[in-house]
Amino acid sequence: MKEKLEKIVSDALEQINTSEKLDKLNDIKTAFLGKKGELTAVLKGMKDVAPEDRPKVGQMVNDARQKIEEVLDEKRISFERALREEKMKSETIDVTLPGRKLRRGHLHPNTIALEEVEKIFVGMGYEVVSGPEIEYDYYNFEALNIPEGHPAKDEQDTFYINDKILLRTQTSSVQVHMMEQGKLPIRMISPGRVFRSDDVDATHSPSFHQIEGMVIDKNITFADLKGTLELFARKLFGADTKVKFRPHHFPFTEPSAEMDVSCFKCGGKGCRFCKGEGWIEILGCGMVHPHVFEMSGIDPNEYTGFAFGVGLERIALLKYEIDDMRLLYENDIRFLNQF
Ligand code: DAH
Repeated sequence: MKEKLEKIVSDALEQINTSEKLDKLNDIKTAFLGKKGELTAVLKGMKDVAPEDRPKVGQMVNDARQKIEEVLDEKRISFERALREEKMKSETIDVTLPGRKLRRGHLHPNTIALEEVEKIFVGMGYEVVSGPEIEYDYYNFEALNIPEGHPAKDEQDTFYINDKILLRTQTSSVQVHMMEQGKLPIRMISPGRVFRSDDVDATHSPSFHQIEGMVIDKNITFADLKGTLELFARKLFGADTKVKFRPHHFPFTEPSAEMDVSCFKCGGKGCRFCKGEGWIEILGCGMVHPHVFEMSGIDPNEYTGFAFGVGLERIALLKYEIDDMRLLYENDIRFLNQF
């Protein structure tokens, strides 16, 4: 019996010591100490042992069991330690590695240009207001003296939502909202997105931005318009900038003009940038048409005013000497990072 037990123990130890995996230990435990295990079988055979020998044999079986359990435990602990060490090794953090670079965002050229324009006008006491991008035909056209069938309507290819509702083609619609509110005087600019059913090319996009401006008060004259817009041009493009007003036509202003600025690249001599002209067109403007006043409930005999509209992208392109508007919308980080 003693030899049998010693054999079981040495078999068990042999298997434990040569095992290579943690779950193998469980198999060994079952094989020797489990209900159907070898040692248990010996215990079951106790009934054949002479009663006086039983305590001694019992003791031997217990010793054997204890020995096997002890070695199993040691082995299990050493497996677990090895596993832990391996895990630690694979998860080590090299604190000397350089950190990940956090890229700082910055403003889009459109936004920089807009903030600059806003700053200039806010400095002159204007308020910045906004209006709806989805608009009634009435505000976008009719109340601006562009009735049904007017040729100016065809000049702005419009996205219609239905007969009466459209995506605004110009921020001039905000003029009407402001006048309807009836709080006079008005001194406002209104930047925002406008939409036209145009194909994309270097100077066109179906969606772009305008900045509308309007001043209404008693005794506002064309001189106020000229003085204001000249100051605006100087602040935006430099103190040496000259301006030139050319007669033009817009249905909602009378008289109307377009303003050119002297080319800030060549100073007016003519270069590639201004296409040899020496001048660059930059905005449309004029004195608010009496009929427009009347439609919005303002008495043109009491009040006068001027208005203007600037393309924001145009300003950004000029200021940063970008020759293709598409670059402003493609969101190529390599391009945008330059500003
Ligand atoms: N709304 C015009 C356009 O989109 C620009 C414009 C011209 C606005 C003259 C004005 C203005 O306020 O007085 O072409």
